[in-house]
Amino acid sequence: MEENGFVLVTGGAGFIGSHTCLDLLEKGYGIIVIDSFLNSYPKSLERVKQILRSKNLTFKDKIFIYQGSLKNKDFILRVFNESEKNGCRIDSVIHFAGLKSVKDSIKNPLNYYEENVLSTINLLYVMNLFACKIIVFSSSATIFKPFENKLINEECQIESINPYASTKIFIERILNDLHISDKKNWKIMNLRYFNPIGAHSSGALGESPKGLSHNLFPLIMECAIKKNFTLKIFGKNWPTKDGTCIRDYIHVMDLAEGHIKALEFLRKNEPTIINLNLGTGIGTSVVDLIKVFENTNKENLSFLFTDRRKGDLPFLVADNKYAKDLLNWTPLRSLEQMCKDGWNWKLKNPNGY
Ligand code: UD1
Repeated sequence: MEENGFVLVTGGAGFIGSHTCLDLLEKGYGIIVIDSFLNSYPKSLERVKQILRSKNLTFKDKIFIYQGSLKNKDFILRVFNESEKNGCRIDSVIHFAGLKSVKDSIKNPLNYYEENVLSTINLLYVMNLFACKIIVFSSSATIFKPFENKLINEECQIESINPYASTKIFIERILNDLHISDKKNWKIMNLRYFNPIGAHSSGALGESPKGLSHNLFPLIMECAIKKNFTLKIFGKNWPTKDGTCIRDYIHVMDLAEGHIKALEFLRKNEPTIINLNLGTGIGTSVVDLIKVFENTNKENLSFLFTDRRKGDLPFLVADNKYAKDLLNWTPLRSLEQMCKDGWNWKLKNPNGY
């Protein structure tokens, strides 16, 4: 790996970012992390180091952390400059940083365009300047137009249903234009995530947003830990087997491994731009997930059915054949494992970091 430079991980302290940082360091990569800690905690990276120490893995001179915002181009320039001066030239980027609440994006669209789109433009501008032209981008399956009860492949139609989804679509388009402008050099992978859940098996790393999450899995765990919390299931008459919505839940460590495979693919291959779905290809309903969580962890959840949530889709499951073929990647961890690891994290960190 000596010939390679450092990997810049933006949003590296977040949920998927921190698990990916751990995996990168375990595999011997050197990383530079940028995070604003707006919706994450520096402690997640301390935990990454703690896990490495517990495995007797050294990370000396392999991780450098910068706190700052990608909205500030001068800050990004400083990170690239300093890294180069310190002998840690950045040659590739995994770009996680961004806001991700659909609800907030509808309330504050400008904030979302600024935090997600403007920040990415700044990052790409500086990457271009430093001839750093390898990027793995955190996109989302939320960009797809609903497609009956069929698996979603990379060719499916894209449609924006809220400002958050729009930011992901715009960034994919910007990356596409950038690739067209310099096809001989840019290597780009847009990873469309399905529903990442679970946590690192140690229970030291997991999802810890600032404020209450509106997503199902964190709420299931909240419900299990706070005995007076009732989970609301949004709708019971969807056109699915049990009337509740179906999603493709993927273990965060499988997702992290997908990023490293994506990075390795780009490093090894000719310049290209690729869109890739990262999911398991397995559909799980809300009721299925609750049952598996209850059975795996021997916990009883209190829940009730309420109206549908605005903007929800009945069925969102990946066709992951392309990712498996291209990257030689297979999600390995079962739904039981996701529930077990998530719960282990929650029990050890009931209030997050
Ligand atoms: C949501 C966002 C998506 C975003 C993703 C990750 C919407 C419409 N979509 O995806 O854009 O990329 O989070 O942040 O917000 N559910 C309940 N009760 C709850 C919460 C959820 O029944 O209290 C159901 C939902 O109806 C859905 C399923 O659980 O069917 C999963 O919901 P959630 O975890 O919010 O993920 P998505 O809606 O798939």
